[in-house]
Amino acid sequence: MVSSRAKKVTTQTLQKMKQAGEKIAMLTSYDYSLARLVDGAGIDVILVGDSASNVMAGNETTVPITLDQMIYHAQCVVNGVDRALVVVDMPFGSYQGDSKTALDSAIRIMKESGGHAVKLEGGSEVCESVERIVNAGIPVMGHLGLTPQSIYKFGTYTVRAKEDAEAAKLMEDAKALEEAGCFSVVFEKIPAELAKQASESLNIPTIGIGAGADCDGQVLVLHDMLGITKDFSPRFLRRYAEIGDTVDAAVKRYVEDVRSVEFPNEEERY
Ligand code: KIV
Repeated sequence: MVSSRAKKVTTQTLQKMKQAGEKIAMLTSYDYSLARLVDGAGIDVILVGDSASNVMAGNETTVPITLDQMIYHAQCVVNGVDRALVVVDMPFGSYQGDSKTALDSAIRIMKESGGHAVKLEGGSEVCESVERIVNAGIPVMGHLGLTPQSIYKFGTYTVRAKEDAEAAKLMEDAKALEEAGCFSVVFEKIPAELAKQASESLNIPTIGIGAGADCDGQVLVLHDMLGITKDFSPRFLRRYAEIGDTVDAAVKRYVEDVRSVEFPNEEERY
């Protein structure tokens, strides 16, 4: 297997995985301790997602998170990772202005966090920035379909590209991102059949979230798949653990033990 042979996962490893028909597993992380566990368990790619704005900071959208905050989260993750490729989201406002701003932001992320690649949202409108960042030697992952940084433009988090015109535009954008030099592209919440067609027509690996099984890989938000976030359960989300319930039970027991002086006992004191 390409993935198990890789001591360190690189963008080339992902390309070889696509060629070999081997699926790519990607999860988010935002801090040292969980990144260490996720990396140790054999994930291929860790995304320091701007979903940190939701799950770490409790904001309603990804819009408020800053470049400094993303760099801080990425530094923490990089400190916990030995093997996975670490991709860092460029936050809203750090690349939409012009390609020089985009390049400056990407350089800050790479220099200050130690991440291995950046990700940004959008299609043809961001291709000039993608080219400039890639020409500077920084790998870029694209992101199409539901693009949460544009939530105020779209108004809802519903499935995208269901209509023919939007589906055709997505196919064009995906090709444009590949031509601009992206090493991979995320498809979020689009019809499975469209994701299949796009994955087949692109040479670069596609990573799906709510985009069906025919993408070249899958990504989930770690806190959602671990059951830490309880108030978010879209159809595409599979919960692999119920950590929220475990934490609730443990904290309740601790509170009880402290109140009843059951904790600490004879062995737990000096
Ligand atoms: O920020 C994030 O977690 C993401 C994934 C949902 C792909 O962009």
